[in-house]
Amino acid sequence: MADDQKIYRASTTAPVNIAVIKYWGKRDPTLNLPTNSSLSVTLSQADLRTHTTAACSASFPGPDSLVINGAPQDISGPRTQACLRLLREQRAALESSSSPAPLPSLSSFPLRIASVNNFPTAAGLASSAAGFAALVRAVADLYQLPASPAELSRIARQGSGSACRSLFGGYVAWERGGEGAAGGAEAGAGAGTGAGAEGAQARADDGSDSLATQVAPAGHWPDMRALILVVSADKKGVSSTAGMQATVATSELFATRAATLVPRRMAQMRAAILARDFDAFARLTMRDSNNFHATCLDTEPPIFYLNDVSRAAIRVVEDINKAVGRIVAAYTFDAGPNAVVYYLAENESLVAGTFKADMGSAAGWDTERGRAVQINGGAAIDRKS
Ligand code: ADP
Ligand code: DP6
Ligand code: CO
Repeated sequence: MADDQKIYRASTTAPVNIAVIKYWGKRDPTLNLPTNSSLSVTLSQADLRTHTTAACSASFPGPDSLVINGAPQDISGPRTQACLRLLREQRAALESSSSPAPLPSLSSFPLRIASVNNFPTAAGLASSAAGFAALVRAVADLYQLPASPAELSRIARQGSGSACRSLFGGYVAWERGGEGAAGGAEAGAGAGTGAGAEGAQARADDGSDSLATQVAPAGHWPDMRALILVVSADKKGVSSTAGMQATVATSELFATRAATLVPRRMAQMRAAILARDFDAFARLTMRDSNNFHATCLDTEPPIFYLNDVSRAAIRVVEDINKAVGRIVAAYTFDAGPNAVVYYLAENESLVAGTFKADMGSAAGWDTERGRAVQINGGAAIDRKS
């Protein structure tokens, strides 16, 4: 086949991650830099995952295109464009350094990307996280980039913040970065706007150190489990991007959350995970979810991500913990009504069984769609080129 007809392809899958210390708020919406650090658990791809294929060819008519679950997407927005531009730049650098055996100039070919989520999209189950992690990995594989997961996480962050954490398995922190940089020193609602430069040494808050790192692999705490309760598969009314920007602009609670609560909880959560202390992990997880949703309620106009079924799920967890006399289950909710309940394998029948029995008759609850999932044991991303 002539080179100008050849189609180059790479496919990959990426997992969902569900934060236990939530990212909510941007200090720089253009670079997609968060106001505070966050920490999440990556779930098994055997359950919730995005599958993405990236193809390019000189024979494709432009422009680049992306199809999600069969629906063509508008990718003219700056976030997807930033990911594709950064990946192309890295490919172009490889091509220009590859003489005397030149590489095909894939960086100049139109891209066709097709993606499938096997779980609800834009419903608060981290589709943007798995989606952009898979997109960035698929194009990086197509371009045969030697980039590490940490480097790819920096690119994926610009597509969707939470996506940077899906490049790793297990327990993953996204460091806000920018400490000591001009204008980026303090966490909090006003961060990024200060005059800031401390002498000529201060570097720019350019996002180069805002990326994900693994706190511990899944095997560190192999008994951890997550129950996914799909309360509604509907697209949320307020996207995460719009919601957090409204919170930053209007909530008075938010500054305290970002400047004081989250930095303290990040340290406590790290320690809880490293010590495999489920009681501390669970208390912090529930408090942080509730604190994040409190800032949503404190936003003008208020944002309601939880519904009556979500609140019933909170009560089921409270009842289980009360009946046992210690904390064996912890709920958390992203920007949507769907619950994720963390628990240890030894309590599987108690936690999953009680949910099935208690929530089976709740309005809007479909027992068939509640499922227990494993925490990702291997590499976060499967390579299937
Ligand atoms: P969620 O709670 O599901 O993460 P968000 O509001 O954060 O919801 O993001 C939803 C957006 O993420 C979608 O509108 C789409 O732009 C993007 N997204 C979802 N799935 C994919 C995918 N497979 N590939 C690329 N982008 C995706
Ligand atoms: C509540 O990563 O979806 O799930 O960066 O604007 O795409 P964008 O936002 P996104 O926000 C996730 C918010 C959250 C908490 C979390 O995952 O940490
Ligand atoms: Co999202």
